Amino acid sequence: MISTDTLELLRATVDDWRRAGESVAIVPTMGNLHDGHLALLGEAKRKAMRTVASIFVNPTQFGPGEDYESYPRTREADLASLESAGCDLVWLPSVERMYPLDPPFMVQVPDSLSDRLCGASRPGHFDGVASVVLRLFNQVRPDVAVFGEKDYQQLVIIRRMVEDLSLDIRIAGLPTVRESSGLALSSRNAYLDKDERSSAPVLYRVLTEMARALRENTDFKALRRASLSRLEAAGFRPDYLEWCSAETLGPIRAGRPSRLFAAAWLGRARLIDNVPVD
Ligand code: PAF
Repeated sequence: MISTDTLELLRATVDDWRRAGESVAIVPTMGNLHDGHLALLGEAKRKAMRTVASIFVNPTQFGPGEDYESYPRTREADLASLESAGCDLVWLPSVERMYPLDPPFMVQVPDSLSDRLCGASRPGHFDGVASVVLRLFNQVRPDVAVFGEKDYQQLVIIRRMVEDLSLDIRIAGLPTVRESSGLALSSRNAYLDKDERSSAPVLYRVLTEMARALRENTDFKALRRASLSRLEAAGFRPDYLEWCSAETLGPIRAGRPSRLFAAAWLGRARLIDNVPVD
């Protein structure tokens, strides 16, 4: 496995693969890897002959007062897991490499995608995500990029960006990897203490039970009120709990796929999750 912070080596390696007729997949990450990331790498390996994982804690997607400085940085352990998972190249750009200009050029995500769900309480977050992902796509020039469905709003925004900017890259989404309790794997689960960890699976439980009830035509507003109370009783401070189109993140449309989306604070951790309704 090659690991590099040099754009020239990254490009030369990917060019060699291309000359040999090999396809390339990227798994963008911020490091602190867990089994969810390794599942994304597994999917990347199924979709292409060569895999690149990037590790970059992206400052532009963190707002003031968020956890950019304290975000867990575990490079040596991450490199070891990627190597044993069979990754071909790890791209480790510095902040200066990723953002050579100050101020940097930034992608502005349309409000219709970014002013809701996580975007409503994290203004500018998705502009930062789109800006770094576009840079990664231009640096690596992959055929395929793999993202997890846990960050579903991110996945929809990236799909839309690729479509709107005519990028020649396929976006693959992978279902959320969960603990046996149902808790979605996330680097931020490390912020949970022992008691919070035992309450954390309630978020997924509430969402799956809501989805089942919605399929049986239960009234959403009443269900939402009861679910928010359940979350609060389990110690959560809910941020949002919404039922949206899985395609546009806007209002649900008859006969089209929809999902339930939730974010809630539990102690220091802001947990997010989503499940399909139909
Ligand atoms: O999902 C993440 O870890 C990040 O948002 C991403 C896609 C690597 C961009 O920094």
